[in-house]
Amino acid sequence: MRISIFGSGYVGLVTAAGLADMGHKVLCLDIDERRILELREGKIPFFEPGLGDLVHRNIRGGRLEFDLHLDDDHRKSDAFFIAVGTPPKEDGRADTSAVFAVTDTIAKETRHAAIVAVKSTVPVGTCDAIQERLDKSCPHKMSVVSNPEFLKEGAAIDDWFHPHRVVIGVEDEQTEQQMREMYRPLQLSGDRVIAMKRRSSELTKYAANTMLATRISFMNELSRLCDAIGADISQVRAGIGSDHRIGPAFLYAGPGYGGSCFPKDVSALIHLGRDNNVPLEVAEAVTRANQAQRQYVLDKILSLFPGGLKDKVIAVWGLAFKPETDDVRDAPAGFIVQQLLERGAIVRGHDPEAATNFAKAYAPAGPRMSYHDREYEAIDGADALVLMTEWRHFRNPDFDDIKHRMRGNGIIDARLIWSIFKLADRGFRYLSIGTR
Ligand SMILES: NC(=O)c1ccc[n+]([C@@H]2O[C@H](COP(=O)([O-])OP(=O)(O)OC[C@H]3O[C@@H](n4cnc5c(N)ncnc54)[C@H](O)[C@@H]3O)[C@@H](O)[C@H]2O)c1
Repeated sequence: MRISIFGSGYVGLVTAAGLADMGHKVLCLDIDERRILELREGKIPFFEPGLGDLVHRNIRGGRLEFDLHLDDDHRKSDAFFIAVGTPPKEDGRADTSAVFAVTDTIAKETRHAAIVAVKSTVPVGTCDAIQERLDKSCPHKMSVVSNPEFLKEGAAIDDWFHPHRVVIGVEDEQTEQQMREMYRPLQLSGDRVIAMKRRSSELTKYAANTMLATRISFMNELSRLCDAIGADISQVRAGIGSDHRIGPAFLYAGPGYGGSCFPKDVSALIHLGRDNNVPLEVAEAVTRANQAQRQYVLDKILSLFPGGLKDKVIAVWGLAFKPETDDVRDAPAGFIVQQLLERGAIVRGHDPEAATNFAKAYAPAGPRMSYHDREYEAIDGADALVLMTEWRHFRNPDFDDIKHRMRGNGIIDARLIWSIFKLADRGFRYLSIGTR
């Protein structure tokens, strides 16, 4: 098939490379000129394990190209994918303006009937609105499909080739068959396509992310209760995660969820409920609990310094919202570092991939904020070390070296990975969350 994909972010680029690798002829488009020029040279605009190899192989094979505009060939695409951003507006609703801008481009440029598959996460009813707009403005019959993306940053390639499911929201049999055909090469281990109505599909995406966020927030609340009553959240997790009805995933307490999806998608779902007079009390509480958890981590840090943070040196390990990504959107570390700086601390940050993005988004390098490629350099002279993201190289650190380099002895383990090292017995003031 000939396929055009609008958006070369995490979703668009992975989709483009994945479909090209399945043998389709793919053009990936973006309005960001620099990004397109770099992609043509094989430079990947963000860190995602395995993506570079996949992109290079398909560029070499002539199946994957990048452009700012549709070429004559791809005006005749069999399918157009929309994978542009839908960031939160100030009021918390999803901003779908880029999705509709792409819709208008497709209406103007397409040369024949085609599928329009919406991968962007959009409020329920958006695909119907896109269909209506195309019916009015496009001379060709366009069939709009909701095809939400469930990839995880950091494991996106594996998720693409081994999806738990491919959800397609369609309103007619023929389009459903075309979509099934497009995804057929992924069906090797059984049929993974779940077809449903467009509105159900749109809601499925929001429901999935909010369900996962709910599990995290619930565990985070329990972790605070564990601190209060002397229980251990890791033991509780093992105890409930072994129940098949519950399962072990997304039960890890930490500094709160972040990233480009959970916060905005929970918020968009809450607004969808409000706009339809169906208050979503659980989702509202999930957001509140998440904010409270960030504050809880900050309060733990502050508790080490009763005299205040002025000129205290705090090392922060991990700035991305999770390991294996350089994405810092809504990262808990952003809130923590900004709060530390506002209170007069000197912050020394380390992250193997995300420091550049973090400096741009939250805290440019300067006299009070520095970034270090080597994690041990970040703790030189520190009064406390805060672990915010559990990259693999933080799992088994040399605590003797850490002690030697630090000026103070405070350790805040916001990811609960160091309790096994009995750091209090080794002279540290060790604080974690819901565990000792
Ligand atoms: N990042 C994830 O893990 C993830 C997972 C599932 C779903 N989603 C959803 O997928 C969508 C895209 O997310 P993302 O993280 O890939 O976004 P992103 O911000 O990384 O990339 C979006 C890209 O779209 C481009 N763009 C904007 N307007 C355009 C236009 N008119 N024409 C062509 N390109 C345009 C931007 O320049 C940018 O490069 C969002 O709705 C998001 O919620 C994201």
